[in-house]
Amino acid sequence: MPDAEPGVHQPDLHLIVLAAGQGTRMNSDLPKVLHPLGAAPLLHHAMAAGRALAPAGTIVVTGHGAEAVAQAARAFDPGARIVHQAKQLGTAHAVAQAAPLLSRAAGEAVVLYGDTPFVRPETLALMLEARAAHDVVVLGFEAADPGRYGRLVMDGDTLERIVEWKEATEAERAVTLCNSGVVCAEAQVLLNLVAGVGNDNAAGEYYLTDIVALARARGLTAGVVTCPESETLGINTRAELARAEAAFQSRMRAEALENGVTLVAPETVFFALDTWVGRDAVIGPNVVLGPGVTIESGAEIRAFCHLEGCHVSRGATVGPFARLRPGTELAEDVHVGNFVELKNATLDEGAKVGHLTYLGDAAVGPHANIGAGTITCNYDGVAKHRTTIGARAFVGSATMLVAPVSVGEGAMTGSGTVVTEDVPAGALALARARQVTKPGLAARLLDRYRARRDAARKEPG
Ligand code: UD1
Ligand code: MG
Repeated sequence: MPDAEPGVHQPDLHLIVLAAGQGTRMNSDLPKVLHPLGAAPLLHHAMAAGRALAPAGTIVVTGHGAEAVAQAARAFDPGARIVHQAKQLGTAHAVAQAAPLLSRAAGEAVVLYGDTPFVRPETLALMLEARAAHDVVVLGFEAADPGRYGRLVMDGDTLERIVEWKEATEAERAVTLCNSGVVCAEAQVLLNLVAGVGNDNAAGEYYLTDIVALARARGLTAGVVTCPESETLGINTRAELARAEAAFQSRMRAEALENGVTLVAPETVFFALDTWVGRDAVIGPNVVLGPGVTIESGAEIRAFCHLEGCHVSRGATVGPFARLRPGTELAEDVHVGNFVELKNATLDEGAKVGHLTYLGDAAVGPHANIGAGTITCNYDGVAKHRTTIGARAFVGSATMLVAPVSVGEGAMTGSGTVVTEDVPAGALALARARQVTKPGLAARLLDRYRARRDAARKEPG
């Protein structure tokens, strides 16, 4: 029996994640397990629950959209191994595809579904613990509306068999204890049982659920661990995906509040699966956090900001109305104000970008000040180029920084300057036309324009 504490390394645990199905009812070109939930593919949620148990390895069974599903699996876990199920002949057939990779595996195997995102690591740990009493452990739940779920037929504490809805008698359909699909057994036992499953049933499929009756016939025991129905929620339709998103967001908001994060209007803040927010951070209304966001303790994200792939350090303030795109790193006490967009930009301690600015592919030194309306012209139509701004530099309003270019430490640029050459430390760069002033000309021009307009109005026809 492995130690079943989540997070404790379990060298003997193998995860098998089934992700071959098309998900016809999503009515989509995208494989079902790649639809996003909390800004991450559905598949990542099941893999995240499994990863919390620190398994020895994870095998993902792909089928529909195999290439893309494999890529998503590896993006989450570069060590994940992929097996291909060319035809979706059933859940037992899917598990059997993993057999060649597990032929010498000792220890436990846990089967998860790629379309069932809310199973908690603690529940999986309970299943591993229950293996002390049973050879096969199935995760079940009391269904409010059992619909077409497989039914768990019990004899006291022992699971006798699982009956698929299509095969079930009226009496069996009246059972409300249902199969989540999550199964746990010793890897070699599971593979042996799966190898014995046939497809002589109403659907002509190899049902993983048949392993329970097979186990019992071989003198093995089977048992059930139960969890709330909300945990085993599977996604089959866009409506279910939308409901799952709502459930995910409310869980993330509750966790953030619990962890000491201030959410001024929690129901308007959106989190991703991998969002990390430190204690005493403050997040204002209508903030969207995409994938890969970390916000340190005491940082403040004001209303109407959109962040993804970025890190905000302690004491930094962002927004209102700011957009932080991937590769943005804000050091301590940085201020990013309204209508500022940052992409692949690092801002060192105390730097300020207050208003109406775009910085892309840029490095800004400590305590530099970027004037309103500054833009890094980072793209020449073919390639991207970098802009470097030194410590305590003062970039005047409406400066265009034509990259690649640098502004040295303590240097200044005049307002409206188009910087095309590097500015040395301590220098002032001015690159704009000299002002010409014509006394009285505005008034004379306006008089002339009005006279022209009035003459046009009087013309007949
Ligand atoms: C399955 C269970 C049912 C349970 C329900 C819970 C079986 C026979 N039935 O039914 O008892 O109540 O889940 O949601 O196991 N998959 C493959 N390859 C295949 C078939 C399926 O990878 O050949 C994957 C699917 O992508 C999905 C999962 O396995 O992630 C479950 O398949 P699905 O067709 O949804 O099974 P259900 O009919 O819902
Ligand atoms: Mg299903």
